[in-house]
Amino acid sequence: MRTEQPKTIYLKDYQAPDYWIDETQLTFELFEDHALVHSRLALRLNSDRHGAGALPALVLDGQELALLKVVLDDQELGEGEYQVDEDSLSLQPAAATFELALTTRIEPQNNTALEGLYKSGSMFCTQCEAEGFRKITYYLDRPDVMSRFTTTVIAERERYPVLLSNGNPIASGEHEGGRHWVSWEDPFPKPAYLFALVAGDLCLLQDSFTTMSGRTIDLRIYVEPENRTQCDHAMDSLKRSMRWDEEVYGREYDLDIFMIVAVNDFNMGAMENKGLNIFNSSCVLAHQDTATDMAFQRVEAVVAHEYFHNWSGNRVTCRDWFQLSLKEGFTVFRDSEFSADMNSRTVKRIEDVTFLRANQFAEDAGPMAHPVRPDSFIEISNFYTLTVYEKGAEVVRMLHTLLGEEGFRKGTDLYFERHDGQAVTCDDFIKALEDANGADFTQFKRWYSQAGTPRLSVTADYDATKREFRLHFTQVCPPTPGQPDKLPQVIPVRMALLDRDGKEMALQLNGEALGNEAVVSITEAEQTLVFENVPTSPLPSLLRGFSAPVKLSYPYSRDDRVFLAKHDPDGFNRWEAAQGLAVDVLQGLVDIHRAGRPLNLDQRLVDVMRSVITDAELDAAMVAEIIRLPSEAYLVELAEVADIDAIHFAREWLRRALAVALRDDMAARYQALAAAGAGEFSASAPAMADRSLKNSLLGYLMLTGEQQVLGWCVRQFVEASNMTDRQAALVALVNSPFEQQREAALADFAERWSAYPLVMDQWFSIQAMASQPGALERVEKLMGHPLFTLRNPNKVRALIGAFVNQNLSNFHAIDGSGYAFLADRIIDLDRSNPQIASRLVTPLSRWRKFDDERQALMRGQLSRILAEKLSPDVYEVVSKSLA
Ligand code: TRP
Ligand code: ZN
Repeated sequence: MRTEQPKTIYLKDYQAPDYWIDETQLTFELFEDHALVHSRLALRLNSDRHGAGALPALVLDGQELALLKVVLDDQELGEGEYQVDEDSLSLQPAAATFELALTTRIEPQNNTALEGLYKSGSMFCTQCEAEGFRKITYYLDRPDVMSRFTTTVIAERERYPVLLSNGNPIASGEHEGGRHWVSWEDPFPKPAYLFALVAGDLCLLQDSFTTMSGRTIDLRIYVEPENRTQCDHAMDSLKRSMRWDEEVYGREYDLDIFMIVAVNDFNMGAMENKGLNIFNSSCVLAHQDTATDMAFQRVEAVVAHEYFHNWSGNRVTCRDWFQLSLKEGFTVFRDSEFSADMNSRTVKRIEDVTFLRANQFAEDAGPMAHPVRPDSFIEISNFYTLTVYEKGAEVVRMLHTLLGEEGFRKGTDLYFERHDGQAVTCDDFIKALEDANGADFTQFKRWYSQAGTPRLSVTADYDATKREFRLHFTQVCPPTPGQPDKLPQVIPVRMALLDRDGKEMALQLNGEALGNEAVVSITEAEQTLVFENVPTSPLPSLLRGFSAPVKLSYPYSRDDRVFLAKHDPDGFNRWEAAQGLAVDVLQGLVDIHRAGRPLNLDQRLVDVMRSVITDAELDAAMVAEIIRLPSEAYLVELAEVADIDAIHFAREWLRRALAVALRDDMAARYQALAAAGAGEFSASAPAMADRSLKNSLLGYLMLTGEQQVLGWCVRQFVEASNMTDRQAALVALVNSPFEQQREAALADFAERWSAYPLVMDQWFSIQAMASQPGALERVEKLMGHPLFTLRNPNKVRALIGAFVNQNLSNFHAIDGSGYAFLADRIIDLDRSNPQIASRLVTPLSRWRKFDDERQALMRGQLSRILAEKLSPDVYEVVSKSLA
């Protein structure tokens, strides 16, 4: 049992540090069974907080360290002259400025939490965000302490020919006994969370970039030798990101060298360490033979994200971890705009909105709901959330919408200029946007402090005699843990009014002409807008581009949605109308199925699907998005009490019914796309769009159960010129009733790709997600596969994560077996990697969504976990889930 309760940290308790660290000199001696870390810190009293009186004690953060030596101003301290406990080293300085030299001993080879200095395969690497530096040496491990770092790495030359750290290399040399060293100097003061070190036998893809001021930057991607041929796409993405940040934000890169290192064992996607980004190999490596188009796009987005952090995160950083969205929300907004510019803007927006609504909305409605700027936490690692990242990006997007492109740029220019080299808050960001534009975001800032997804209900009436169209808005933000009452938020609604031909009408509000499309701000709990001079009763096209992260409702009929899906000039809202129709149809089917009546197919949905499948003008990627039915997860999120069996049944039934109804149109388009794509592989956006549609059609067609389609699918699996097509065929086979072909394809795939860990991750995932009954046994069996290991986060995500998050009907099996399985894995993983264990709790935390029987089972498993001796990470999520 737990002995002491982990303690909660509050934003309101923030205090500036007692001391600053102006200089940090580090020397690492790396060995196979330990590492020695020598640090030399130039410390200075924070005179803003302390006057001439007695000097405060110096309290440095440190965890799991063996302290070997403490030297204060060249005097070695004896045991009584400092205090060490579980997570700190304290001592009493004698002067306002002083030098402290420490030596600690750590064991990177035994670090399974992948936080601090650890080994991934044969290579040493670090992950310091958020509070991992304290597992390397004692330090003021907080983002508002910024220091100039010089780092020397010493290791055996044979095993570790490449020795890297932040900044520029300044010296290197040989030691006796086959050891060598390299020194790195980072001229930009930075918080410890941006520190990085890598040592390994790595090979390198090198390129260069000329900045807007004409400086040449040395670009390097370091990977293990066998991956050398899979780096081109990441390098191209990096160069495009660097150009884009210059063009769109006026931001130039600042060091002479920029490095990316790919590692196989990594808790998250990647990390923006100054000048030395460390990446999960899944976010670097991409080759058409081994990576899908989706993986290519993820690499592009993550490379951009980490690169953009150089300004939004590194040059201007966070004062404290409550401000995390300052860098993450802003940087996600930046990378999503970059991806929108590189690919299809509308499709990118559809993907982001789909993801947000299925996942972040669920978080906002669950026990871990928190504001974009949380006001308390137990373990900060638990707050790298969809709310901080994705909702945070939506908040920045709204600011962009309200200020317009130019006003927003003026604001960010001022922000970067005013705060360069500082550790600041979300308020500072808003203040810069306000000051540059003369804007007032006082009320808008509630988006940072209020949790929960606002509901925006809209009704309308048309007065033919007055030629007035009135829109009546009601906003309600639901209660969330710790926040029973909410105030109205600023909700920007991008909108148009459509006439009977689907043409946009001229908008006039309070005598002012607004053009055909406008952004109106809803700021009150109840608010009515009266549009004037409206000749005929219009159909409103609301919240275009999802201009605010809210749940919009408007009493559209199914016919209205069909009309909008076909005629709305706004591409995003055309998709939204089709989705809305599909949601409405599915919810109807769920109800009918629950009532025990036979299901029937609404021909209007068939009609909309047919019209897009046969529309050769429409972007194929858009067609693929429109015919994709809303996910089970999203339908669960929308339901008051989710009947997962009925949802799964209705959705599968509808997919099959659509496939049967549209069989010939789908087959014709599939064949045409297969023929068009048969030539040489292309990674162009149109080629990717074609593959996306082709494979989505294949998935439908396989549901007809026809032998002929099976033939197409097997042929695609065998003859595919790329992983996207091969994998799509495998997915279709695995989810089909053709057992023999399914097993043959799985075996063939495993044999062919067993040497490629990232491809095998896909192989594990596809099986974990297969929705036939019996998936849990398959997953349990796969845990014993020689290539599976709980020590690698990618493997855990691929098999266990995919099963519990994407195979809802099996995970929620009414016998509770899925829940018990997950609880066992969480308890087990918490001993080796608390961050990964904690993330796995999410599906259990959503127990309130389900029926009484499942609620009891899920709570039972949460209680069983809580009875264990837990990390603060898992403790926080589990205890809050049960509260
Ligand atoms: N700053 C990283 C990003 O968003 C996030 C990150 C990488 C991280 N590794 C981590 C956060 C480990 C917590 C723990 O790009
Ligand atoms: Zn980030």
